[in-house]
Amino acid sequence: DGELCLSRSLVNSSDKIIRKSGSSVFQHSLEGWKINSSLVLEIRKNILRFLDAERDVSVVKSSFKPGDVIHYVLDRRRTLNISQDLHSLLPEVSPMKNRRFKTCAVVGNSGILLDSECGKEIDSHNFVIRCNLAPVVEFAADVGTKSDFITMNPSVVQRAFGGFRNESDREKFVHRLSMLNDSVLWIPAFMVKGGEKHVEWVNALILKNKLKVRTAYPSLRLIHAVRGYWLTNKVPIKRPSTGLLMYTLATRFCDEIHLYGFWPFPKDLNGKAVKYHYYDDLKYRYFSNASPHRMPLEFKTLNVLHNRGALKLTTGKCI
Ligand code: CTP
Repeated sequence: DGELCLSRSLVNSSDKIIRKSGSSVFQHSLEGWKINSSLVLEIRKNILRFLDAERDVSVVKSSFKPGDVIHYVLDRRRTLNISQDLHSLLPEVSPMKNRRFKTCAVVGNSGILLDSECGKEIDSHNFVIRCNLAPVVEFAADVGTKSDFITMNPSVVQRAFGGFRNESDREKFVHRLSMLNDSVLWIPAFMVKGGEKHVEWVNALILKNKLKVRTAYPSLRLIHAVRGYWLTNKVPIKRPSTGLLMYTLATRFCDEIHLYGFWPFPKDLNGKAVKYHYYDDLKYRYFSNASPHRMPLEFKTLNVLHNRGALKLTTGKCI
């Protein structure tokens, strides 16, 4: 059984834990890595019992009408109104319908990407998924530029675009989106209250500037289903990180998944400091209970999957 298979491997895994400068990290090797296609198929099948990424990647127009009131997924007491703008940006059909790829890259945002020279390799994949509108142009040699699917937590408006307080922030945002052409822009708008005005501003800018991006808003059940899958496999994640969500979705569309920029540790294997994000000065907060994520546990899990050939995790240089 695939489920047992994964949990047993988590217990028996031969991962080597190296303690360096107080941080535990997991070593893995790229040498001799080979895809395990039957495991890939088994994982896809098991995830399909919990969610169908083709459907759950986005709600569609026919799910709602303007004026509908929905409950936030992670804060059921609070509600959100489906505005006219939001409704007009919901896709008619899933933007991932019938899309299949031989190889995909899921690019996390860790500073481990700096000096990796992975840009070319990342861009060589058939489908490239990125997180939180991370900048690419200035970092192209290390992270590449191709973006077929990119996520945007509502908090990004505040964090990276000054809360749209002035015209230049808005211009910067519109410019960033125009570079995406018709890629999928995935906005988790229904998770928790707080970001609704940011989502509304984003929607208004997309409409006003007639941007070609294909907006997607994850289904109301996605996050619970993803959590359910990992919990069943003995990976108790409070709230999956965007990167883990993207890997979980990608199993539906991609035969070979390559992960880059996943390294939730402040030091690398040689003890050298690693920035939390490759592009800003955000600090590590995932070791405190205040954080909703359990990235080190997620990383450990992804590492086991790497060692079993289910995915390929690159944390060093691409040569
Ligand atoms: N990531 C990682 N190590 C880091 C930073 C990020 O492994 N040092 C991975 C995580 O899977 C993360 C993804 O890269 O989800 C994208 O990073 P970020 O934009 O910071 O992710 P979020 O999960 O959206 O973070 P938050 O909820 O804090 O906004």
